[in-house]
Amino acid sequence: MTTTPAEVLDAQVGDPAIDHDHKLIEELILALREAIVSGDNEAQAELGEALVRHVRTHFAVEELLMRLYRYPGAAAHAEEHAAVRDRLKRIAWDLTSGDTDAALRDLDELLAWRTTHMTEADVAYRQYLCATGIFRSGA
Ligand SMILES: [Fe+2]
Ligand SMILES: [Fe+2]
Repeated sequence: MTTTPAEVLDAQVGDPAIDHDHKLIEELILALREAIVSGDNEAQAELGEALVRHVRTHFAVEELLMRLYRYPGAAAHAEEHAAVRDRLKRIAWDLTSGDTDAALRDLDELLAWRTTHMTEADVAYRQYLCATGIFRSGA
């Protein structure tokens, strides 16, 4: 079983609401990871549902903003989100079937993906929205 804590980078896109969402996703991933390592099935179910719910809402808001303001990279960005939704389904399946090693591997990859996505794709669409005047830079 994987027991090494995942590396977490404190990356931020510079918008308080988005950064709050990203931080909460990170905290839910780490809490779910801990519940898996400690074998707390009740917490796994609760945290897994909370993670899926929060990620879905966050992605929906981002995709709506990108569509509303015609962000040119919206389709590619949404594809990255879709891959994460698939990964979350796989984690749920791993946990249902008792394959905790696979669930931990997927969670660690999700955490690494989150940092890359935030610092590249999310920063890029935020810069676009700032340039259109929707977001204020530095807000
Ligand atoms: Fe995103
Ligand atoms: Fe995001």
